[in-house]
Amino acid sequence: MPRDPRYDILFEPVKIGPVTAKNRFYQVPHCNGMGHVYPSSWVEMRRVKAEGGWGVINTEEVEISHTSELSPIPEGRLWDDSDIPLLARMADAVHEYGALAGIELAHLGSGAANNFSREIPMGPSARPIDLLEPIQTRAMDKADIKAFRKMHVDAAIRSKQAGYDIVYVYCGHDMTTLVHFLSRRHDRSDE
Ligand SMILES: Cc1cc2nc3c(=O)[nH]c(=O)nc-3n(C[C@H](O)[C@H](O)[C@H](O)COP(=O)(O)O)c2cc1C
Repeated sequence: MPRDPRYDILFEPVKIGPVTAKNRFYQVPHCNGMGHVYPSSWVEMRRVKAEGGWGVINTEEVEISHTSELSPIPEGRLWDDSDIPLLARMADAVHEYGALAGIELAHLGSGAANNFSREIPMGPSARPIDLLEPIQTRAMDKADIKAFRKMHVDAAIRSKQAGYDIVYVYCGHDMTTLVHFLSRRHDRSDE
């Protein structure tokens, strides 16, 4: 049976900023229970999607620092340069079939309990974590805010080095609060 022409557009390329997706089948960022804990499965799941024809394939939330650590939930990880090779494996697998690879950079702020890294969770204000764990956060100071920005810049550069075509900044969960807080402060000349 021929394809209903109403759906033809799904198979046409689309320009996204400087890159072009070969079609409109777009796998949004989503967690999968694998992340950094099952790296090969994590790569292969995306390779299978690319082989199946998806135009864009994204990671899930990728932690950009040990100060945003979600274990036992297995997310992607890009804490430092040592995490680049695994992320590059996924991007390469996706590129093998002509799809674009996207990465979602995440700092969960007061949503991250840091069970494994043991860092004290930080957020816009000192308060109990309300996402996953009953833990107290500490309020970020100016040095934290500066470091938080640098974490994002560093992670974006590392994403490019790993071969990603699209870079997201995750602003869900408690991070929405944090991003609002940071943008409110953005105009102040002393920062
Ligand atoms: C199991 C699961 C994990 C998800 N993980 C993420 C995530 O890591 N990052 C994100 O931005 N959205 C995440 N989402 C939301 C999805 O990206 C998506 O927005 C949602 O499933 C709705 O899909 P739709 O927009 O195609 O209807 C997740 C959703 C599910 C069901």
